[in-house]
Amino acid sequence: MKIISSIDELRDQLSGQLRTAFVPTMGNLHEGHLSLMRLARRHGDPVVASIFVNRLQFGPNEDFDKYPRTFQADIEKLEKEGVYVLFAPTEKDLYPEPQEYRVQPPNDLGDILEGEFRPGFFNGVSTVVLKLFSCVQPRVAVFGKKDYQQLMIIRKMAKQFALPTEIIAAETWRAEDGLALSSRNGYLSPTERSKAPLLYQTLQQVAAQVRSGQTDLAAVEQEALAQLANADWKPDYVAIRKRANLQAPSAQDLANGEALVVLSAAKLGSTRLIDNLEI
Ligand code: PAF
Repeated sequence: MKIISSIDELRDQLSGQLRTAFVPTMGNLHEGHLSLMRLARRHGDPVVASIFVNRLQFGPNEDFDKYPRTFQADIEKLEKEGVYVLFAPTEKDLYPEPQEYRVQPPNDLGDILEGEFRPGFFNGVSTVVLKLFSCVQPRVAVFGKKDYQQLMIIRKMAKQFALPTEIIAAETWRAEDGLALSSRNGYLSPTERSKAPLLYQTLQQVAAQVRSGQTDLAAVEQEALAQLANADWKPDYVAIRKRANLQAPSAQDLANGEALVVLSAAKLGSTRLIDNLEI
């Protein structure tokens, strides 16, 4: 595997490649990321991964400095997956000057749910992803459904800018007890880790209630929030939304059998976890 930090070198290395499959990451790779590499391999060749902890998507009081950086271990994992190039730019490589041109997602998608609790997050994500796409020029790029809203925003960005990159969605990788794999799970104490599956269990309960015909979605959401709060979580939201645009479904949408997803973010101790489940 070639490890490249400069944009020019990356372009040289990938010149003439028409079927590149790309997986952008922030490192601290776990089995979920590796499943994205495997999916990428099924959709293109060569597989290119990136590791870049993107300052633009972290708020002032978020965990940019303490975000886990495990570069050597990540390299070994990517080598085992047969990744051809790891693009690992420094901040100076990717942002040699202040990144003043930004991608601003539409408010109705970018400022709700995660965007409400992490202002500027999707501006930072979209900007870095567009820039990484410009560097790698992939034919396909793989994103996990765990970051459901991120996936939708990137997909819409690719469509609206007519990018020549197809966005592929990968299913969420879960631990045996249901907890969605995330780099931030490493922040959990052993006690918190044992409580962490409640988030997914709560989503499963919500999904079961909706599937069984419950139409008072506000009541279902409130019950889920209370369940988390009673177990010492600090939930930001539990929201039942339309898969198509992440807006709240109307009674008519429910009657029409609109495809739904329930999304949640909640803090356990000082660790903020997100998860979702298609209903
Ligand atoms: O999901 C992530 O790890 C990041 O948001 C991404 C897509 C690599 C952009 O920094």
